[in-house]
Amino acid sequence: MTQHLNAPAFVRHEGLKQWVADFVAKARPARVVWCDGSQEEYDRLNAEMVASGMLIKLDQEKRPGCFLARSSPDDVARVEDRTFICSEKKDDAGPTNNWVAPAEMRTRLDELFDGAMEGRTLYVIPFSMGPLGSHISQIGIELSDSPYVVNNMRLMTRMSKDVYDILGTDGDYVPCIHTVGAPLKPGQQDVRWPCNTTKYIVHFPETREIWSYGSGYGGNALLGKKCFALRIASNMGRAAANGDTSPGWFAEHMLILGVQTPWGKKYHVAAAFPSACGKTNFAMLIPPKGMAAQGWKITTIGDDIAWIKPDATGRLHAINPEAGYFGVAPGTNETSNYNCMETLRRNTIFTNVALTDDGDVWWEGMTKVPPAHLIDWQGRDWTPEIAKETGAKAAHPNARFTVAATQNPVLDPEWDSTTGVVIDAFIFGGRRSTTVPLVTEARSWSEGVYMAATMGSETTAAAAGQTGVVRRDPFAMLPFCGYNMADYFAHWLGLGEYLRKTGARLPKIFCVNWFRTDENGKFVWPGFSENMRVLNWMLGRIEGKAGGVEHLFGITPRYEDLDWDGIDFSAEKYQAITSIDVEAWVEEFKLHDELFEKLARGLPPSLLSIKAEFEDRLGM
Ligand code: GTP
Ligand code: SPV
Ligand code: MN
Repeated sequence: MTQHLNAPAFVRHEGLKQWVADFVAKARPARVVWCDGSQEEYDRLNAEMVASGMLIKLDQEKRPGCFLARSSPDDVARVEDRTFICSEKKDDAGPTNNWVAPAEMRTRLDELFDGAMEGRTLYVIPFSMGPLGSHISQIGIELSDSPYVVNNMRLMTRMSKDVYDILGTDGDYVPCIHTVGAPLKPGQQDVRWPCNTTKYIVHFPETREIWSYGSGYGGNALLGKKCFALRIASNMGRAAANGDTSPGWFAEHMLILGVQTPWGKKYHVAAAFPSACGKTNFAMLIPPKGMAAQGWKITTIGDDIAWIKPDATGRLHAINPEAGYFGVAPGTNETSNYNCMETLRRNTIFTNVALTDDGDVWWEGMTKVPPAHLIDWQGRDWTPEIAKETGAKAAHPNARFTVAATQNPVLDPEWDSTTGVVIDAFIFGGRRSTTVPLVTEARSWSEGVYMAATMGSETTAAAAGQTGVVRRDPFAMLPFCGYNMADYFAHWLGLGEYLRKTGARLPKIFCVNWFRTDENGKFVWPGFSENMRVLNWMLGRIEGKAGGVEHLFGITPRYEDLDWDGIDFSAEKYQAITSIDVEAWVEEFKLHDELFEKLARGLPPSLLSIKAEFEDRLGM
């Protein structure tokens, strides 16, 4: 076996080579491929996957360089109940994470990984989260037996052999181990999408290791994304905090966008919405016609994850650790997100969307009238009639596209900057059909932290399990915070204290909800482009020129405080998405109670006093 291990000359890190050799002895792959991230390698692996049936090559005139993958029907989303934070102490993982003692988990993984890659190729994937060489960036090495993972990682990260130059002979990297958990016996025919009904997505925060077993999908398998850039990185950022001297840094489930104003000033905003709640769309937004003509423009720095580092003067430098988008396909169309549709014209890997008869892709919401015939995401015939009868979706609700950021027509010129962009405001938003108003400005940093911490959102298809159920999703980080959520709140409050000490102006914090519905279950707010009107108001607040009224827990614009030029949206409708139902909020605060009781150990007391003030105002 060791002859397969011959690492190329560009790998000079003996510790890394030993780690790979030890793992190979355990998982026993048939061969080892050291990836270099080249175009040639990417093309070769795609061709191999087309030959094996894992990828379908789309019509090369309609979608040049595009492929379609269909996953196993039981491997379509993140598996939160199979995701573990294995810190030494249970308390460090906290009550919102699944925990198993590290020693016990290592025993389980040892058994699972024994021979797990038999008959398969082990790929060694070198990648950087963040621009190569940035002081905010981090290096990872993923060992995976999935060529689909390799090529998705190439689109999603800075995957390159240059990473080994940064590592040198002894640099630090996060070891990420992934197997689909489907060893191939000699002579056994491979399946289209190998995976295992047993799944484990495991993080060891102290040793900063990731072990993923049994899934080939998205956040379960592309380990640079949620596992590293959020769960491990949140631990790194917090560990870097050091009493009064450093607030550490922040790994957040946030998009980062640039806003060019008509008066020549550019702002940068970071926004946290839970999975499938609008980050990609907000990050690529095209302002409504009138506003675009005035000079408003949005540019994308990132669409899912932000790493944010405060400097000594209190400025918050943010980078997008990723280099591509793994975005939700359903609902995306030329009207809702023209920039995204442009991005997807070429060099895209689609997963679990439908296939048209002429070799193109389709998903629910792409066109008003669906094609007369499709092959659905499970490879079955689909027609609008079948859909009417059985309710079958052509694309899976969590169908995704993977595409390099460089194809985005509104990519921000600073997106790859090693110093990042300076954040002026934070936005938090959930998917709430009732109760939560369109937009609220927090009156202070700590009240903003309170609002983010208690945010609720209806569950979506991005995670396995029931959808449409309201749950608390603090900072949109419930599934992604790699340590105790109570300590995470303290980390954020600590940032406010640090910023105050530097004398810097604290970024404003806003909460939004694009998703209030009417009595027919229809969204009242048109959303998408029109969200620009809300962003405009926020910037007006930052500059001290936009009006608003204070209500129970913040400031909301009156109808006349928003710019309605070019849209017919009545004051009555506006009332329907901004009204505050006191009874509903009394119920809402009971849910805050539940969360705080769960997180009682270590919960910052200031959150409880803020809650008491709000309840006072509510007359509770
Ligand atoms: P993840 O990649 O899972 O983290 O999701 P995301 O937060 O990037 O969400 P995305 O922008 O992909 O949107 C998810 C779904 O919500 C898509 O079907 C969108 O069409 C829809 N959506 C996004 N923005 C809006 C909006 O402003 N209003 C409405 N009604 N739907 C929206
Ligand atoms: C999410 O679920 O928030 C995603 C998709 O962005 S995944 O990569 O699967 O986490
Ligand atoms: Mn996400």
